[in-house]
Amino acid sequence: MKTTVGIIGAGPAGLLLARLLLKAGIESVVIETKDREYVEHRQRAGILEQGSVDTLRECGAGERMDKEGIPHDGIELLFDEVRYPIHFPSLTGGRRVMIYAQTEVCKDLIALQLKEGGPLFFETAVKEVRDAKSSKPKIVFRRKDATEDEVLECDYVVGCDGYWGVARQAIPKELVREYEKNYPFAWLGIMADVPPSNEELIYARHDRGFTLLSMRSPTVSRNYIQVPAGTDIKEWSDDAIWDEIEARTKTNDGWKVQRGPIFQKSVTPMRSYVHEPMQYGNLFLAGDAAHIVPPTGAKGLNLAVGDVVTFARAIKHKVDTGSDDLLQGYSDQCLRRVWQAERFSYDMTNLLHTSPDETPFEHKLQTAKLWRMTSQPSAETDLAMGYTGFPL
Ligand code: FAD
Ligand code: DHB
Repeated sequence: MKTTVGIIGAGPAGLLLARLLLKAGIESVVIETKDREYVEHRQRAGILEQGSVDTLRECGAGERMDKEGIPHDGIELLFDEVRYPIHFPSLTGGRRVMIYAQTEVCKDLIALQLKEGGPLFFETAVKEVRDAKSSKPKIVFRRKDATEDEVLECDYVVGCDGYWGVARQAIPKELVREYEKNYPFAWLGIMADVPPSNEELIYARHDRGFTLLSMRSPTVSRNYIQVPAGTDIKEWSDDAIWDEIEARTKTNDGWKVQRGPIFQKSVTPMRSYVHEPMQYGNLFLAGDAAHIVPPTGAKGLNLAVGDVVTFARAIKHKVDTGSDDLLQGYSDQCLRRVWQAERFSYDMTNLLHTSPDETPFEHKLQTAKLWRMTSQPSAETDLAMGYTGFPL
């Protein structure tokens, strides 16, 4: 079996890349280890930056997003019982974000791919990438219930296989630099059948820990609380979760979070990670396969979009002009944006979470930073520019 671009993984990175390549007239095959149901229902990201929204629209995948997504003009920061609005369009020259869940982005892209695109194999595990340095890199894979491996011969392979994927193992260890930070806390996330308690998202700093109030629709809330790393979800009853959210989001203006039945809950560890370089020969890495950010800045999915847009442009340039300049510069180009997002996510995380070994001095500094963020236009603008997204 042969193709131009072999894509490993049908998360947002792999699916969007297949769509962008189709629009550019370039053939691809997508191979995904999980089944369709799993990929479509894995609860994760919720916020799309302006650039991601524009990209989905431009490639014809924005129809349902524009009907069902919820545009947002800002967020609120809550600390010391007071809510402070940060209004994006006035600070950024009109930029805003969209609440449209990763599950829905994946559903839309899968439906389009199956209708209009090239092959997309579910329940097919990639075992390794061979000959990455050659002009014909190969993906070795095995379909569900098969007893033998198969080989897909490609001109290019893009590893969109997430943090636990196999693609980056094909890059020789001596060429790789990994940068990593693990945080001593995690996020306990819930989905609840209750209308969002506030029009805007609330990012709350409290001595008991961070809380984020988000949403999925006018009737479904998506909330997160900071918990210690390694927390077992069984330690938390639904009532205990709501009590904690209520305690951490108490305000002095009478506003209160609304409770409702929780229908899904899970704990996500928090980590920062960058793998350099993001390419080796004709193997390229995109999305979580190359970098992880803690979710506080809502950047992970948007970074994945940035990577695949960069790759799609580079390969189109090669097809149109014969020059592989942009392909050669892929890793450097992506990493500049990646490190900006790493910085932003790290700063947002430290600004809002409590740390077990935090000193009273550090606690005061955190409050000073929050004051600055909510009273100095330059600091507010910095937050708004970072949140709505770095240019693609
Ligand atoms: P993934 O979504 O991990 O997809 C990789 C795919 O590869 C998977 O489908 C996997 O099954 C497949 N795969 C792996 N190994 C193989 C193999 N050997 N063979 C074949 N297939 C393989 N980001 C935001 O931008 N905004 C947010 O608001 C946000 N909130 C988040 C909240 C939570 C709780 C979490 C956990 C994450 C959040 N993120 C957010 C991050 C975002 O979800 C990820 O960055 C995003 O999923 C990355 O997409 P990806 O396609 O690179 O990787
Ligand atoms: C959501 C997740 C985030 O990490 C974030 O910063 C904002 C919103 C969400 O899942 O809705």
